[in-house]
Amino acid sequence: MSTKNAKAILERMGAGSGRGGTGEALESVNPATGAAQGRIRAATRAEYDERVESGLRRFEEWRMRPAPRRGEVVRGLGELLRQHKEPLGELVSLETGKIRAEGLGEVQEMIDICEFAVGLSRQLHGLTIASERPCHRLMEQWHPLGPVGIVTAFNFPVAVWSWNAALAAVCGDVCLWKPSPLTPLCSVAVQALCDRVAAEHDAAGVFSLVPGGAEAGGWMCDDPRLPLVSFTGSIAVGRQVASRVASRLGRSLLELGGNNGVIVLEGADLELAVRAITFGAVGTAGQRCTSTRRLFVQRGIARPLLDRLVAAYRTVKIGDPLDEGVLMGPLVTRAAVERFAAAVAAARAQGGEVRFGGRVLDRSGNFVEPTLIVAPRHDAFPIAWEETFAPILYVFEVTDLDEALRANNAVPQGLSSALFTDSLRAAERFLSASGSDCGIANVNAGTSGAEIGGAFGGEKDTGGGRESGSDAWKAYMRRQTSAVNWGRDLPLAQGIQFG
Ligand code: UN1
Repeated sequence: MSTKNAKAILERMGAGSGRGGTGEALESVNPATGAAQGRIRAATRAEYDERVESGLRRFEEWRMRPAPRRGEVVRGLGELLRQHKEPLGELVSLETGKIRAEGLGEVQEMIDICEFAVGLSRQLHGLTIASERPCHRLMEQWHPLGPVGIVTAFNFPVAVWSWNAALAAVCGDVCLWKPSPLTPLCSVAVQALCDRVAAEHDAAGVFSLVPGGAEAGGWMCDDPRLPLVSFTGSIAVGRQVASRVASRLGRSLLELGGNNGVIVLEGADLELAVRAITFGAVGTAGQRCTSTRRLFVQRGIARPLLDRLVAAYRTVKIGDPLDEGVLMGPLVTRAAVERFAAAVAAARAQGGEVRFGGRVLDRSGNFVEPTLIVAPRHDAFPIAWEETFAPILYVFEVTDLDEALRANNAVPQGLSSALFTDSLRAAERFLSASGSDCGIANVNAGTSGAEIGGAFGGEKDTGGGRESGSDAWKAYMRRQTSAVNWGRDLPLAQGIQFG
């Protein structure tokens, strides 16, 4: 049993009291033990309003601060994160149950996006477009938007905030963060670092915390002072966020559920496939939005692949996520365990055969077994069309790539997908317009564990948003098209003569 404790980590990170609010208590429970490990208080409506107002006051100045100088603040945050990688990573493990390597990896993801954003702060670029009018310059530039609401989920309690906040900050926006009520301590720890860096750079109000439950998220959705609400979470809640924000004609950036498939074709490197599938399906106890949930195996290799997977699953050590050698920690809550058990029961009822795992472990904490279920035809197995946030992998035999692609694309979600093959033709087909319909499509690499340099997000019910790398920054800015006439005439577009 690990001796790490959340209170000591918070002290080490300078996250004493007072970073929450004065509202209802938000308890932090260690999912590996079921023990309470600290609490903060939610923000009241008045506290929320006060934080939005102070953000707006800061915005007046911040939007005019040169972007590379805004980048200095984000650089400072990245440096603090580097210094606190270990305690913060361990705190992530204590609140979410993800193993230490993944907790640290999550903080590394924050450091990476801070570095990306610092570089970006010298690269926020517009366009100059050839004008049809003589002596005119036609251009497009990007301006800060305003206060951005960032609503994050328990499973990446700090990294997803940083994907949004680091970019939004260099873009000249201010950020209000409503973390998951399941991970309150992670949020106050990060806010403590934000407060330190803000004090050093006269940037109070750039990053604020609004702890709370669904009600606080609703305040953001309905608040016309927030031009953008970025939401990561379930499809059901994402639908509500999208319609509430749209009804005031605000913008939302959605990163919702996935139901990610891996296709393995005959001739593929099975060793590689097994490692990627195991990490994708078992890693984070199946609680990533990119977790591998469906496996489509070409008939000729179904047996050897399954045998190898079973062998790999047998070696997965389940236990305290901070213990050496453990590969799978607990699920986040008892309710998540119940959803796991219900999905396994539904799979059995629909004709699935549990080839490995399937049980809830009889010990304290929310532990379940990594589970492999061999399923009948994809279209006759409705449980596989849903995202269950648990380490369950449904395995389907397919005759060829076409059948696998049809099944891969049949579900409502469209986040991540992967193909294992040594065939160039198959790989290119998978990546073509008639291939995978997901926002992420990998070849000989698994569905989860994306790096921050690419745009992250998915299609269909996944919500269509893109976060982190590439040109995702544009979501945090407003586009302005400008024509400047430097001549002495007033030529009109479309050749119109007026008067
Ligand atoms: C999520 O589960 O919400 O690609 C994000 C990955 C991580 C991010 C997952 N970089 O698995």
